[in-house]
Amino acid sequence: MSPANDGRHPFPGGADYLIRHATLRQLQLLEAIVRLGSFTRAAEELFLTQPTVSMQIKKLSETLGTPLFRHVGRTVEPTDAGREVYGACREILGTLTDLEVKLSDLKGLKRGRLRLGVVTTAKYVAPEILGAFCKQYPGIEVSLRVTNREHILERLMAHDDDLYVSGQPREDNEQIESIPFAPNPLVVVARADHPLAVERNIPMERLADESLILREPGSGIRDAVVKWFHEAGLEPRVRMQLGSNEAIKHAIVGGLGISVLSLHSLRLESAGGGLALLDVDGFPIMRRWHLVHWRGRELSLVARTFRDFAIDYEPEIAVRLANAKAAFEQTRERLRRQEAMGA
Ligand code: PGA
Repeated sequence: MSPANDGRHPFPGGADYLIRHATLRQLQLLEAIVRLGSFTRAAEELFLTQPTVSMQIKKLSETLGTPLFRHVGRTVEPTDAGREVYGACREILGTLTDLEVKLSDLKGLKRGRLRLGVVTTAKYVAPEILGAFCKQYPGIEVSLRVTNREHILERLMAHDDDLYVSGQPREDNEQIESIPFAPNPLVVVARADHPLAVERNIPMERLADESLILREPGSGIRDAVVKWFHEAGLEPRVRMQLGSNEAIKHAIVGGLGISVLSLHSLRLESAGGGLALLDVDGFPIMRRWHLVHWRGRELSLVARTFRDFAIDYEPEIAVRLANAKAAFEQTRERLRRQEAMGA
């Protein structure tokens, strides 16, 4: 067991004392707890049990001779010392990540790691590109983190992943490189038996009469929809907000309203599934997917290769979207015929 620091000196023996008694794992844990604001979430992220995390932090705080966290109600927050250690941890872990990048670059594309962070809706497109990429480079280990735009921006700021797939950037930021690479059309979706499903060139104003299901605050699609209504001078009748595209599709089928979704999220439904696209003037809202990373941080060879691979993959994505759109067109024609026969 490491002897506890008696607190009389910051680290008796200086850095050497720390090197002998603290571990990189402990520093990684502290970094995760401060970043995620919770012992439990840090334990989950690092696949450890909570008692292990608590024990390691206790040891680290004994080594440093100072408490690193304090309890505030039901949450924990770092003490001033904890915050200082956190800053140092981020630097140390950042240096190790850079080293990993350099070493794996030396090994070429036979081995390596790609950490990709993607916005919620890009989960319908990113795995397919990743699949094709992994087929070509089987030695590369990939991880995919899916969360909404706001959280992706936080992860980008904290350099948590190598590369990100996001929607349209809200504003230009010189520090961030953002390369458009594939279409992301936003379409109006209703239940297949909705009276407007057979109409063509539906005027924009008609949307303001419908109950609208919106994505959660922080979502890129939500921002685009709210902006669209604002620019059209219309007030949306928001019936409910849901944090997932899948839940929204179920809510539409359940008769709760219409919504605006990415055509990517509907590809599997286009052959059926009880949904229809509405042909509203001004739609689709043509957005594009962007590959995003910090300019100041060198991309690894693996990340650079993935970026170029994704850009070259655009034609395949465009074909799949065109097929999905065509399938919905067929549904509309079928519904029109049915209505004409019934009339
Ligand atoms: P979202 O992002 O999934 O966070 O809505 C999609 C987009 O920005 O188009």
